[in-house]
Amino acid sequence: MPLKNRSLNFLFFAGIVVLGGPAWGAAGERLVEVYCAGCHVQADGSLSRIEDQRKTPEGWEMTINRMRITHGLSLQHETMSQGEVLGAMVKYLADTRGLAPSETTSLRYVLEQDGNVVEQFPQEFAEMCGRCHSSARVALQRRTREEWDRTVDFHLGQWPSTEYSLYGRDRPWLKIARENIVPALAVDYPLETDAWAEWQAADKSSPAGEWVISGHVPGEGDFSAVMSVSPLSDRPDRFSVEMNGHYADGSVMFGEGSAILYTGFEWRATVNVGETTFNQTFALTSDGQALQGRMYQKDQVLVGARVKAIKQNERVALLSVYPRSLPIGETTRLTVSGFGLGLAEITIADANVEVIDAQDSSRVIVDVTPIDGASVGYRSVSLAGEEQTQAIAFYESVDELAVEPSYGIARIGGNGGGTPKVETVFRARGKSWERISNLGRQTILIWGISMP
Ligand code: HEC
Ligand code: HEC
Repeated sequence: MPLKNRSLNFLFFAGIVVLGGPAWGAAGERLVEVYCAGCHVQADGSLSRIEDQRKTPEGWEMTINRMRITHGLSLQHETMSQGEVLGAMVKYLADTRGLAPSETTSLRYVLEQDGNVVEQFPQEFAEMCGRCHSSARVALQRRTREEWDRTVDFHLGQWPSTEYSLYGRDRPWLKIARENIVPALAVDYPLETDAWAEWQAADKSSPAGEWVISGHVPGEGDFSAVMSVSPLSDRPDRFSVEMNGHYADGSVMFGEGSAILYTGFEWRATVNVGETTFNQTFALTSDGQALQGRMYQKDQVLVGARVKAIKQNERVALLSVYPRSLPIGETTRLTVSGFGLGLAEITIADANVEVIDAQDSSRVIVDVTPIDGASVGYRSVSLAGEEQTQAIAFYESVDELAVEPSYGIARIGGNGGGTPKVETVFRARGKSWERISNLGRQTILIWGISMP
């Protein structure tokens, strides 16, 4: 793309006065035309590079930010803030050139900012393409073969030292990139896929409605809450979010924030709970009935945990039971979360269940006592014919303690300096051994405590 076109970009700015106003969906498309055409428009009016790639909202945001940092793209606008311009363009690009849910399944850890993951990719690919950024950054893109080739050119043009740094200088990097990597990427991650065609044609569900959400906040413990999601009247692509619930110790949890749904399933929310701001990176299941992902502190992304939410739809449903382990020979108070809980009996194999508080149909408190002679092991919890297997564990003693992950990455900082401290989270798990024969034993998890 000829760089002399840059000047054209500034001419386009003269036209942006007409933008703004409430038509946000259309605005995204128009903003991309205006802000990107200066350097990317082709003779037939299509946009070079942009139309031959698909990626996640985060992927598009990083590309546009590179256009700003490296190529001088300015997002100045008469009525919108630069953040709003960026947001509208990212939304439009992720909706029209995004990834289908199935194209992201095994790689959600990067989207969820779960840093303590050791990636599993073929060695040559990981050394060639996963040593400066995650391999997932590559595998979360879809491109034509030509575009994969250009990525290699762009890397060498932008960072010539790629060939001379570690894992580059010990091999003919460019030759391997062109001859091995690009052809494989073109086959594994092509622009056009059945998954994307089907997802574009599919009816999309709205996340608006009532949800029950349950998870674990490090330092605070297990929680469950009703999460109400309502579309904003002036911005149908955005939702207000309110969370009303309790931690396991009975203390109140209240959160308020907002969410955006990209590509029909990529839920990104920011919710303030007490003094802490959390991000939620969830995927909406294709039936629109569940949200799953990670909720983590905005300023300490490793401090967080997996959570799941299910949608209210006139049915009785079981979401979670916590704590997830109880000692044999004692009575333990458990919280059960879900929908319509007062309407059906909660049963736990080999245990007596006494309901203590069932006033809230999304959260019931029960006292559970394993029957005499109950053995160590996992038990299922059932409600109205729905069974969750291995939902809780019965144990006699703590036979083993494990700290997970076995190593975590943190960084010193803060204390008035320019670089913030990065914390990590370790979780201590108690394990109990269930003797399954004289020769073997099976380990069951009995509790988890988080230590940020
Ligand atoms: C001032 C010129 C300029 C503007 C304006 C500009 N780009 Fe670019 N763009 C470039 C150049 C130069 C490259 C090739 C080098 C690179 O990838 O950084 C590029 C490359 C790209 C690529 C290919 C990146 C890759 O990894 O293969 C995409 C996608 C892209 N631009 C999107 C956009 C979008 C979207 C906009 C509008 C928001 C935009 N660009 C605006 C100059 C520009
Ligand atoms: C020497 C370090 C290095 C190596 C090796 C490397 N990359 Fe990158 N790559 C980068 C950097 C830095 C960026 C970020 C550019 C940005 O976001 O501004 C990047 C960005 C990308 C992107 C996102 C571009 C976009 O705008 O969407 C893709 C895709 C990518 N790399 C693919 C690859 C592939 C494929 C390989 C192996 C052939 C590879 N990278 C090897 C440094 C590297």
